[in-house]
Amino acid sequence: MIGARLPLAVEAGFDVAGRVAVFAPAVGADLSALSGCEVISPLRPVHDYFTGMGLTCRTAPEGRYDAAVVCVPRAKAEAHVLIAQACAVTDGPVVIDGQKTDGIDSIRKELRKRADVTEAINKAHGKLFWMTSSDKFADWAQGPALTDGGFWTAPGVFSADGIDPASEMLAAALPDKLGKQVADLGAGWGYLSAHILTRDEVQAVHLVEAHHLALECAKRNVTDPRAQYHWADATRWAPSGRIDTVVMNPPFHTTRNADPSLGQAFVAAAARVLTPQGSLWMVANRHLPYETALEQQFARVEDMGGDGRFKLTRATKPRRRT
Ligand SMILES: C[S@@+](CC[C@H](N)C(=O)[O-])C[C@H]1O[C@@H](n2cnc3c(N)ncnc32)[C@H](O)[C@@H]1O
Repeated sequence: MIGARLPLAVEAGFDVAGRVAVFAPAVGADLSALSGCEVISPLRPVHDYFTGMGLTCRTAPEGRYDAAVVCVPRAKAEAHVLIAQACAVTDGPVVIDGQKTDGIDSIRKELRKRADVTEAINKAHGKLFWMTSSDKFADWAQGPALTDGGFWTAPGVFSADGIDPASEMLAAALPDKLGKQVADLGAGWGYLSAHILTRDEVQAVHLVEAHHLALECAKRNVTDPRAQYHWADATRWAPSGRIDTVVMNPPFHTTRNADPSLGQAFVAAAARVLTPQGSLWMVANRHLPYETALEQQFARVEDMGGDGRFKLTRATKPRRRT
């Protein structure tokens, strides 16, 4: 991981003096070789983690930096945006770091066509190398854009090319009556919330989303004044009043591998925020193991159908924890 490669980069001459920005590190990344660096990430759990470690965190770079480190994500379009962003605000070297499974070799190949990059440090199934910042990557910068379907999305945002089929199935299955206060946990760019707001009876939809840029897209897509936006970790979100219905298509990845514990934590969060009469409506990939979490958190769990890929569930009678 990056923590194994950074000290080797410093030994090899990467100068960490001055203001250093680290773009998109994962929760748990060891940045101790870069004391006093700033973290730039759209993700709320990443902010919570690194702020807790005493680092400054931002959703976008501010001012100029002497050096930058880009932690390459798996999605290539997002990696391009991060590299362009880092180059645009950095006067000195830009370090590129990533795991082989996240495509660091292919990014390195692309970079070598446009810039001089150092030899790679190979360690812990990944690579780290650096280059001098330049404006050669300006064409990789890409902000929110309008899709053919008429929704704003951006690289790195879930289902950026259009409507997710699982969410579409959930929207079609939702009853007319959802109560007054509805929460969309992991709201993404707002597809489900827009659908919920077609109901007059709804007084507020709380879009709870950890990805800052996704929420910015949602603000453009869902302009109804009943929408309330929360840049928050849904597993820790505390509404000011109780919620009548939670809808969700929970995330199942924190890294490359499926991580059902995140979806299970969403189920617990839904039970925590609902009124005793409230309902959870959820869609998930059929193979994901949410049944135990649902039964632990709700006294009534109903299979509402689905298809070979996705399962629809309604859960009611949330169990109260003491
Ligand atoms: C499967 S997507 C569903 C997105 C949207 N509801 C839709 O239907 O298109 C899950 C969403 O959860 C968000 N997410 C991941 N971890 C989160 C967390 N801890 N708190 C809140 N949102 C989170 C992701 O950024 C992503 O937008």
